Amino acid sequence: MKPSNLHTQQTKVSKHDREQLLNQKAQLIWFTGLSGSGKSTLAVALEKKLFDKGFKTYLLDGDNVRQGLNKDLSFDDAGRVENIRRIGEVANLMLDAGTIVLSAFISPFESDRTVVREVVGANSFMEIFVDCPLEVCEQRDVKGLYQKARDGAIKNFTGIDSPYEKPSHPDIIIKTDELSLEDSLDLLLKKVLPRISKK
Ligand code: ADX
Repeated sequence: MKPSNLHTQQTKVSKHDREQLLNQKAQLIWFTGLSGSGKSTLAVALEKKLFDKGFKTYLLDGDNVRQGLNKDLSFDDAGRVENIRRIGEVANLMLDAGTIVLSAFISPFESDRTVVREVVGANSFMEIFVDCPLEVCEQRDVKGLYQKARDGAIKNFTGIDSPYEKPSHPDIIIKTDELSLEDSLDLLLKKVLPRISKK
């Protein structure tokens, strides 16, 4: 629904001005994949590399955001759709602030990821598919949640009784069961740096 009776307030500092000040190009680096695939590990490590190179970054992580802003949301389909919609809007504000935003959410539905891409604009969006077979994620079971899902203690668990739609055209695919963290970061940096650096 389009809100009525609202007028966009013009500001005197633009996104471009902020990017100039920060000497970077704002970008949303969106990690998607199963729970336990390695999204957060990659996003945390990439953020640190970028920060150490002098970029102004911020990381939005599913487990964290769901304890604050999105703590009212469930893991049924509607809860996940709203989770990703809000993250898209939050990320868009951060991009307007000139920030390099990294996000780590399962974001299982292609249509939701498409909405985020449209909200922030295709030029500001990179989709990273953290591709790891369900069997490997389940074997890792870092948080013990797959076991709980198999036991029926958690409902709607992605990969068990809730779907995951693989991205059809991701910008980067990282196979975390084949690549080391260092090699994955090299690959990411090679693609990300040209998108965020001022000429
Ligand atoms: S999303 O599907 O809405 O994008 P999000 O990334 O925010 O999910 O949260 C996923 C994290 O919540 C998982 O890494 C896991 O730690 C936890 N979690 C708790 N319940 C579930 C569930 N039913 N399905 C998936 N993850 C869950």
